[in-house]
This record gives sequence, structure tokens and C-alpha cells, in this order.
Amino acid sequence: MDKKIILSGIKPTGIPTLGNYIGALRNWNLMQKDGNYCYYMVADLHALTVRNDPDELRQQTRSMAALLIACGIDPDRSPLFIQSHVHQHAELSWLLGCVTYMGELNRMTQFKDKSAKHADNINAGLYTYPVLMASDILIYGAHQVPVGDDQKQHVELARNIAIRFNNAFGDTFVVPEPVMPKFGARIMGLQDPEHKMSKTDTNPNGYISMLDDPAVITKKFKKAVTDCEPVIAYAEGRYGCNNLLTIFCACTGKTMDEAVKDFEGCGYGRLKAAVAEAVIAELEPVQSEYRRIMDDREYLDGVLKKGAEQAAEKAQQTLDLAFSRVGIR
Ligand code: TRP
Repeated sequence: MDKKIILSGIKPTGIPTLGNYIGALRNWNLMQKDGNYCYYMVADLHALTVRNDPDELRQQTRSMAALLIACGIDPDRSPLFIQSHVHQHAELSWLLGCVTYMGELNRMTQFKDKSAKHADNINAGLYTYPVLMASDILIYGAHQVPVGDDQKQHVELARNIAIRFNNAFGDTFVVPEPVMPKFGARIMGLQDPEHKMSKTDTNPNGYISMLDDPAVITKKFKKAVTDCEPVIAYAEGRYGCNNLLTIFCACTGKTMDEAVKDFEGCGYGRLKAAVAEAVIAELEPVQSEYRRIMDDREYLDGVLKKGAEQAAEKAQQTLDLAFSRVGIR
């Protein structure tokens, strides 16, 4: 297999859910293998597009970094950094904005969704959000960008920006591609299994936070919505049941056939208890590692400082090249 440069990022807004973990964070860990070189970033600048509390942002940014390490990102191998610590992203973003059309940004579904949701704060940052994201990606020459399906459109825009810039000014950027997790890409809400599990769900029983303690996890699964079919099966339209089985497989490594067999003749009570148990077993080691890292301020500061230095070295090279291509410097 070809060695790839990989970059991904996550916004430090709230604690990620079980869905974020299975669909994204857990795979970030796996991508560090095969000789790939991975950059992982906490996207604090992107978090500013929604009105924020400064102390909360500071706290959540550190907390997210600690959680990423707890999920298995190895900072000795993959630079882990805070987006704002590498000032080059914002600078490149300006150049890229000058080769991005408003028509393209108008088509971004996340912009449309967020403007509808925050109608009182449709700021320019929300609009140019995908340009900064393109900068995050192109500045490292990333070949692959692991993202959930809601971010795929943004990576496609980054591709178009890279191609357009290269055509106009000469080969400068690697053209990236989105990579979507094969499995567990979509963990659905526990109360509304027709929609993706979301940490902004107004009903906390709808999602499992990665830092929920075991009793809470058990309780939330107990309350999970299923359906009135008596037999446990993976079948079209059986959203709640399918989701529980999917989570079970994702946490135990079993195939769907094996899982369905495991629950032959069982009721939902048994299924829910087993899923809760599997999720607890998966999250507990992550949670204890997270607590250990959060208690070791010096370690975390050191990791983030080193990560930012490594990232900045590459970022500066790309920025210098891009500036000189357009005739600045
Ligand atoms: N926009 C992404 C999200 O909301 C986070 C992000 C910022 C990102 N920059 C990135 C993801 C670069 C991948 C690559 O989830």
C-alpha cells in the first residue's frame, strides 16, 4: 500500500458522542498504521463560527485533545495540535478564499443548515468556514481526509480549490480525497433512530457521550426506542433495532449475522443490556486514560507544543510556496 499523508480535525464543541467515536475517532487511531503519516487537529478556529464562551472554549479544546490521545492517537507518531497554534492556516485561508467562488459556498449544505439554525448570527465566518477547512487540508499536502458524511462536501470543495489553484498558478497543492469509515459511519439517535446521533440533541437520552459513566450508559440504552416487532432482526425500516445491533457489532467486532444469532429468541431487554455492556467495555479504558491525561497538565501541554511545532514546519513550507506562486514574496 502507498504511504499516505492524512489529516483530520474535530471541533472542540462539547464532548463527542459514541457516534463520533465509532464513526470517526476510533478510525483515526487505525489510520496511523501502514506507514501513513497523520496530522490530527482540534479545530478551535472553526468553533468560533457559533457564538462561544471563552472559558468554555479553552477548557473544551484541551479536553478534546486529551480525548484524542485517549482514543489511541499516538502523539509520538502523529502530530496532534490545536489549529490556532499554527497561524499559517489562517494566512493560507486568505489566498484560497480568493480562488473560491461565492456560488460554491452558497451551495454548502452545512452553511444552509447552520444559517437556518442560528438565524440571529449568520456571520461571514460561517460562510467561509469551508475555505479555512480547505486550508487545514491543503497546507499539509494531505492525500486523504477521514470525515463523516456531513463533511464530505467540504472536502470536495477543497479538491476543487486545489485543482483551480494548481491550474492557475502551477502545481502547488496535493488534491485530497475524502475517506469515509466503512463501518459504523452512521450511529443513530437512541430516541430518534431515524436521525444521526447528535450531541446537540435536546434530549440527553438520545445520545451516549464518550464520558458518560456506566450507570448512565445502561440507563440510556434501557430507554432506547425500538419497535413493536417481536423478533430481533436487522431489516429495512427497523431503525431502532438496526441501530442497537450496529452499535453491538461496532463494539464487539462481531458481524451482523453473528449478532443476530446471539439474540435469537431474546427480547429487547436482553439486547439493550448486552449493547450497554459492550459500549461500557469499549469506553471505559478510553475514559480512564482521558482522566489520567487531564490530570497531567505538563504532559498535555508538551504534546500540543511539539505537535504545533511539527505541523508549523510543514505548514510554513506550503505557505511560502503558495505565496510565491501568486507573486507575493
Ligand atoms: N469541519 C469539521 C467538522 O465540523 C472539522 C474540521 C475542521 C476538519 N477542519 C478540518 C475535518 C479539516 C477534516 C479536515 O467536523
